Amino acid sequence: MIKANINLDERSYPIYITTDFEGLGKAVADAGINGKALIITDKNVDSIYREETAARLSEAGYQVFHHVIEPGEKSKNLDTVKEIYKLMHSLNMDRRSAVIALGGGVVGDIAGFAAATYLRGIDYVQIPTSLLAQADSSVGGKVGVDFENAKNIIGAFYQPRMVYINVNTLKTLPKRELVAGAAEVIKHAVIMDREFFEYLDANINRLLDCDENVMMYVARMNCGIKGHVVEKDEKESGLRSILNFGHTIGHALESASEFKLLHGECVAVGMVGAFKLALRLGMVSETEAGTVESLLLRAGLPTKLKGLNPARVYEAMLHDKKKREGKLVFILPKSIGKMVKLTLDDEEMLKGVLDILIN
Ligand SMILES: NC(=O)c1ccc[n+]([C@@H]2O[C@H](COP(=O)([O-])OP(=O)(O)OC[C@H]3O[C@@H](n4cnc5c(N)ncnc54)[C@H](O)[C@@H]3O)[C@@H](O)[C@H]2O)c1
Ligand SMILES: [Zn+2]
Repeated sequence: MIKANINLDERSYPIYITTDFEGLGKAVADAGINGKALIITDKNVDSIYREETAARLSEAGYQVFHHVIEPGEKSKNLDTVKEIYKLMHSLNMDRRSAVIALGGGVVGDIAGFAAATYLRGIDYVQIPTSLLAQADSSVGGKVGVDFENAKNIIGAFYQPRMVYINVNTLKTLPKRELVAGAAEVIKHAVIMDREFFEYLDANINRLLDCDENVMMYVARMNCGIKGHVVEKDEKESGLRSILNFGHTIGHALESASEFKLLHGECVAVGMVGAFKLALRLGMVSETEAGTVESLLLRAGLPTKLKGLNPARVYEAMLHDKKKREGKLVFILPKSIGKMVKLTLDDEEMLKGVLDILIN
C-alpha cells in the first residue's frame, strides 16, 4: 500500500493506493469518520464491488447504507442529487455521517456534490473505480452536475476526507473506458513530466493489460502530478488551468458529438489539436508532436474523428468560451513537460486545425 497526501491546510487528506479493499475500514476510521456511511454507486459497479466495500465498512463498525444510480453521464443531474438528498434526510444523516462515492467520475462528481451541499457539507470519501477517476476526478475536490446540456456548471470545490484507490478494480472496467482514461494519464505526463511520459511510452501495453505494478506506479504518478497542481492552486485561479490541456477543443468535440464520444477520446483529439496549433505558432517541434501522437495511437486512442461538423465544433468552442473566461484560452505545449497558457482568437487558424482533426 502506498500512502500519499494532499496538503491543503485543514482540508488535507490522504490517498491510499492499494491492490485490494482490505484496508478500507481502517482508512475510513483513520480519516476521522465515525457516523453512518452512505455508499453511492452505479448499477455496474454495485454488482461487482458494493458487497465487499460495504462488508469492509461494517466490519469497521459503520452502519452502512447504499444508493444505486443508473450508470453514465445522463445521471449527472439535479434529479439524481434530489433522490440522494431524500435518502439522506430519511436516514437522518447528520454532520457525522459520510458519503462513500464508489465508482467512476460520474458517481464521484454526483456523490461529492450531494455531500458538499447536504447540511452545508458532510464528509465524503472517494473510492474511484475507473481509470479516469483514479487518475483525475477523485483528487482535487471538483464536484458537481450537468445542467441544461451544459457540463459541470452546477458544482463546488469540496475536498474529500480520503481517497482509496484499489487499482485492481480496473480489471473489470470495459476496455473502451480504460483506454479513454489513459488519455488523462498521458495528459498528466505531457503537461508536467517528461520522464513519466517516457515511462508510459515504454509501458502503455502493460498498463492496458492491467499489470498491477504498472497500475500502482501510474496511480502514484497521477496523484502526485494532480495533487501538486491542486496544492498550488486549489480553486483554479492560475496553475490549475494547465489541467485543461486538450480540453478546449476536447469539450467542444464532446458536446458536438452529443456525448456519444467518451471524454478521454475527445481529450486525446484535443491534445493533438493543441500540438497542431503550437506547431503553427512555431512553439513546438514536429518531433515532439509526433511522439505524443504516436503514444496516443498505441494506447488505442483516436487522434482524428469522423462524422462531426467542424463548424459546429467551432461554435461549441465559442459557446463554451462565453461561459468560462470570455476568451478562447488554450494550454499549448512548448515541449513534452512544458506548457504555456495563451489566448487565441485567430479564427482561420482554429478552423484550419479543426478541419484536419475532423475528417
Ligand atoms: N471532478 C473532476 O475533477 C473531474 C475530472 C475529470 C472528469 N470528471 C467527470 O468524470 C466523468 C467521467 O468519469 P468516468 O470516465 O469514470 O465515467 P463513468 O463514471 O460513467 O464510468 C464509466 C463507465 O464504467 C463503469 N465502471 C466504472 N468503474 C468500473 C469498474 N471498475 N468495473 C466495471 N465497470 C466500471 C461505469 O458504470 C460506467 O458505465 C464525467 O462526468 C466528467 O465530467 C470530473
Ligand atoms: Zn478531462
